[in-house]
Amino acid sequence: AAELFANGSLTGRHVLITAGPTAEAIDPVRYITNHSSGKMGFALAEAAIEAGARVTLIAGPVHLPTPDRVQRINVTSARDMLAACEKAMPADVLIAAAAVADYRPEVIADHKLKKDPASEDGLLLRLVRNPDILATLAARDDRPFCVGFAAETQNLLEYATRKLNDKNLDLIVANDVANPAIGFNSDDNAFTVIDRARGEHRFAQTSKAKIARQLVALIARRLQPQE
Ligand code: CTP
Ligand code: CA
Repeated sequence: AAELFANGSLTGRHVLITAGPTAEAIDPVRYITNHSSGKMGFALAEAAIEAGARVTLIAGPVHLPTPDRVQRINVTSARDMLAACEKAMPADVLIAAAAVADYRPEVIADHKLKKDPASEDGLLLRLVRNPDILATLAARDDRPFCVGFAAETQNLLEYATRKLNDKNLDLIVANDVANPAIGFNSDDNAFTVIDRARGEHRFAQTSKAKIARQLVALIARRLQPQE
């Protein structure tokens, strides 16, 4: 796939990528989050740069170096991530690789929550739904070409297809997160891409850097109207 990049298959395109987890504060010292190393999203940012794109990377809290020439914006919560994406629009392509927290605490306590020394009671946290960043951007009039990731532990292709349709996406990457070989902190990945227009595409296990280039090449081909 390397030759697909040298020729600038994404030259002049703006690619917006979300990566990493989001963290939703409970109080000043506690939060709720998801497993996500951010490695896949950062590898995609690098691959899109290699393909000649201008890249905006909206990153949740991860400790990864910023790839050369990528414009990185750090965020914490899902709502911050959505606001940063909206500010970065318009884009030609959105790749939503972030593991966004689906819920956040209804209220963020101003001060650290203290245990009641007189009781052994548990704590009940009320959570409310976060906005769906990908679905929100896919519903805009100036919607980009939309690529989602479906992280599933069962019924992979069924759930992924449902997300492709429900969120009005162009492609979805169906990722089996129950497979330890390609798990959350792994340097490798393998997945099936479901393309709304062209059916399924299997990507064999390889490094995240390589699979990112293959996925970016597929996206670049899909942006060509003549193909
Ligand atoms: N996503 C998003 N904003 C959210 C939730 C998800 O942008 N609030 C994006 C993810 O980045 C991913 C896709 O939507 O590209 C699917 O995320 P996933 O968590 O697999 O699906 P959900 O729609 O949240 O459904 P569920 O977690 O219930 O399986
Ligand atoms: Ca989710």
